[in-house]
Amino acid sequence: MDKYLVTGGAGFIGSNLVENLVAQGNEVVVVDDLSMGKYSNIAEFVECGLTFLKKSITDFTFMQDLLKKEKFDYIVLLGAVASVADSIERPQETHKINMEANLNVFETVRKFKLPVKKILFASSAAIYGNDPELPKKETSPVDPLTPYAIDKFASERYAVDYGKLYGLPTVATRFFNVYGPKQNPESPYSGVLSIIHNCLLNDSKFTVFGDGEQTRDFTYVKDVINALMLLLHDDRALHDVYNVATGNQTTLNDDIHAFEKAMGKKIDIEYLPARTGDIKESYADISKISSLGYRPDFSIEQGLKKYVQAE
Ligand code: UD1
Repeated sequence: MDKYLVTGGAGFIGSNLVENLVAQGNEVVVVDDLSMGKYSNIAEFVECGLTFLKKSITDFTFMQDLLKKEKFDYIVLLGAVASVADSIERPQETHKINMEANLNVFETVRKFKLPVKKILFASSAAIYGNDPELPKKETSPVDPLTPYAIDKFASERYAVDYGKLYGLPTVATRFFNVYGPKQNPESPYSGVLSIIHNCLLNDSKFTVFGDGEQTRDFTYVKDVINALMLLLHDDRALHDVYNVATGNQTTLNDDIHAFEKAMGKKIDIEYLPARTGDIKESYADISKISSLGYRPDFSIEQGLKKYVQAE
């Protein structure tokens, strides 16, 4: 049994990770200010011994005291302004949350020589920007175009370089389009599959921006959790970044059909012009994480079926 700190543990990916960690009998502390996450995502685990602290990761003194006191084995940094649109509205606040708060954790571990087994920082495919090279490899050019992407890239570099400069046991992931239970569908910039799910549940109209032939590497959240567990525990995953995806692309039109099949009903669709800056195609090269033994378990059809069953 190990002791984990998960920042953003009440959010979509965080709460799915926490579920897994608690089920394995680990001691888990979640720090989340519930600005994006929901207590209901983790309420059932609090009853199973999870410690929930409703605090902001930007309370640097609180975080330092917590890290010094608790001596975590593993630290997973998922706390963030998760919406790109939101980051464009409030770049300075985003910077504090998405970059400075992570640096505060790295610096506290360094300064007080805390005996951590691994610190994992969750970065994003957004850092690749509009560079047309496909599939995206970890060595592909980066082009962070938004405050969100800039701070994700900076934190990712801090993670890797705190490893190389000071010997912290760090690793970083670049998530592609993650979907699954507990993803919040409430904003127009929420993950598209959570929006489709919501429209199917409520019999409301879904808007496709563009012709629906844009592609994404949609990754079921359980595969992401498996990737996180692997990168946390494999000693070869050190001072480096890894794409986390399936390595396959599907079109939005195909995803809609797969979702309709999984739900057993049709969705009402309207087509509007593509969003400005929308990327036409995106998918990952996952050979780097595959070399550690990672294999995604869920195709889009399998993932959507599981998603429908889980909610
Ligand atoms: C994702 C990120 C985005 C980031 C981008 C950069 C999410 C939720 N979004 O965007 O913040 O800038 O990667 O790599 O992780 N769509 C519709 N109808 C809708 C919503 C979306 O047709 O109601 C379309 C979008 O225009 C897009 C596709 O669906 O073509 C996927 O959208 P989305 O889930 O927002 O993901 P990304 O565009 O990949």
